[in-house]
Amino acid sequence: MIQLKLFVGTLVLLVLCEYSISIEDKMRKTKKFNKNKSDGLPDHILEKILIKTMENELKINERPPENMEMTKQNPCQKKHCSAGRECKVNEIGVAECVCVSECPIETDDRRKVCSNYNETWGSDCEIYRMRCNCEEDSSKCQNPEFKHLHVEYYGACKQLPKCSDSEMSDFPRRMREWLYNIMQDLADREELGPHFTKMVKEAETNLTKRWSNAAVWKWCDLDGHPHDRAVSRHELFPIRAPLQYLEHCIAPFLNKCDTNNDHMVTLVEWGDCLEIPKDTLEEDCDYLRNELN
Ligand SMILES: *[C@@H]1O[C@H](CO)[C@@H](O)[C@H](O)[C@H]1NC(C)=O
Ligand SMILES: *[C@@H]1O[C@H](CO)[C@@H](O)[C@H](O)[C@H]1NC(C)=O
Ligand SMILES: *[C@@H]1O[C@H](CO)[C@@H](O)[C@H](O)[C@H]1NC(C)=O
Repeated sequence: MIQLKLFVGTLVLLVLCEYSISIEDKMRKTKKFNKNKSDGLPDHILEKILIKTMENELKINERPPENMEMTKQNPCQKKHCSAGRECKVNEIGVAECVCVSECPIETDDRRKVCSNYNETWGSDCEIYRMRCNCEEDSSKCQNPEFKHLHVEYYGACKQLPKCSDSEMSDFPRRMREWLYNIMQDLADREELGPHFTKMVKEAETNLTKRWSNAAVWKWCDLDGHPHDRAVSRHELFPIRAPLQYLEHCIAPFLNKCDTNNDHMVTLVEWGDCLEIPKDTLEEDCDYLRNELN
């Protein structure tokens, strides 16, 4: 009996070893430079999430081709409504943005979102719709405070672990590496314009430029709405909300970037926060923006 137990024990150990070796292997293949372990999510998964959010953004920015006939028939064709609102043509034939009347029914738990009031909602659509109803003083508004309702992070509310000092001190390195890897990935997929691609090439060959080019690129990318050479907390949303559930350091990290606490992150603050030497940062957003749009 004891022998059997030992045998089974050894077998389990062997299987576990095999498993961890194959995982390590996979990690080594996907990760480019990271050797250090971290308590957060494996870096290659984070990259995937970041890329997915970027793809979604790109899709949102894509406008359907304009069709004069259609525009004539449907004034909503050209109207852009903010989150939680949809276009309706009113009685006198004018396109208007009104609160979304119905959100798609979500059965997938992964669509759940946690609000800034630490309440779990079925989807982000429901949060934006409620905020719209409250902004419009509609009877559907459940709480006047919901005028300020927003998505804190994707995923059901949970007790987020505290970001420890050691995790925080390693975070700038991890963030730099994700940004660089994502930039490289997009270049490989030929989704970047010529100036961008040149920046990637430069980053690949010149170590001094590696992190700074990636940082400048992401910062320019975030500073698009509006383009004012400062990234607001609102503009940080695409990198904060999708990651916070898995990466509890991202929110405190991004807060820390806003050193003077004016709710804006300048390129200098962004560079400091990613621990990139100042003299290697050059702002070239106009170039990038022209290629992005
Ligand atoms: C890993 O962490 C140690 C200590 O925190 C640090 O000295 C080392 O440079 C790190 N290695 C990499 C590849 O970042
Ligand atoms: C938010 O809600 C979750 C789940 O209900 C709970 O575990 C957590 O402690 C709450 N967080 C805060 C900051 O109240
Ligand atoms: C790398 O970039 C730095 C900073 O712009 C520059 O001074 C240096 O000459 C470059 N090195 C090479 C090999 O291109």
